[in-house]
Amino acid sequence: MIIAIDGPAASGKGTLGKRLAAHYGLRHLDTGLLYRGVAHVLLSAGHPADDRVRAAAAAAALDPGRLDEDALKTQAAGEGASIVSAFPEVRAALLDVQRRFAAAPPGAVLDGRDIGTVICPDADVKIFVTASAEERARRRFLEFRARGLAVTEAEVLDDIRRRDARDTGRAVAPLRPAADARLLDTTALDVEASVAAAIALVEAAR
Ligand code: C5P
Repeated sequence: MIIAIDGPAASGKGTLGKRLAAHYGLRHLDTGLLYRGVAHVLLSAGHPADDRVRAAAAAAALDPGRLDEDALKTQAAGEGASIVSAFPEVRAALLDVQRRFAAAPPGAVLDGRDIGTVICPDADVKIFVTASAEERARRRFLEFRARGLAVTEAEVLDDIRRRDARDTGRAVAPLRPAADARLLDTTALDVEASVAAAIALVEAAR
C-alpha cells in the first residue's frame, strides 16, 4: 500500500505520515527533508539558496540516508527549501529516490507537496491536509520554542504565508490537491483526532 500525504507547511502532514506508517506497518519518508537537505548544503557553505547550478548539483549528490533531521528542521532550511524546490532540475534529481522508496515492499507513506500529483499518481490513498495559516503558525511556533529556537509567532506566520505563496504559485509541481485526494482540515483537531480522521479516510479508500 502507498499512502500519499500532501499539504502546506506545518499542516500536520509529517506527524500524520509517521503515525499512519506505524499504524499500517509501512515505511515513512518526509520528502521535505530532501529539499531542506539541498538548501542546507548551499547555506552551510555560504551560498544563497537561489544558486540554481549549485542547488542542482547538491540534489544530484544528496544521500537521503544521511539527513540530520535536527539540523534541517530550522526556519532557514525551510525557507531555503522552498527556494531550491522551485528549480525543475532539483525536483528531477530527487524524483527517482522518492519513487524507489515508495515502490519497495511492504509499501510506504510519503508526505510532501506533490506526492499525489507527481511522485505517486497511482497511490492507493491520497490525503490533502490543510489548516488555517494562523493555526499552522501557532503549532510551528510552539515546536520551535520547545526546541529553544528564538523566533516570534508573527515571524513564523510571515514565513508560512511566504512559503504558501511560493509553493502554490510555482510553475513546476505546485502545491495542490490531486483530483482524487481526500481533504482533511485539521484546524480544529488535535493530534489524536487528526490521526483518527486520517485512518478513517484510509479505511474508506482501500
Ligand atoms: O514540508 P517541509 O516544510 O519540510 O518542506 C520544505 C519545503 O520544501 C516546502 O516549503 C516546499 O517548498 C518544498 N517541498 C516540495 N516538495 C515536496 C516537499 C517539500 O517542494 N514534496
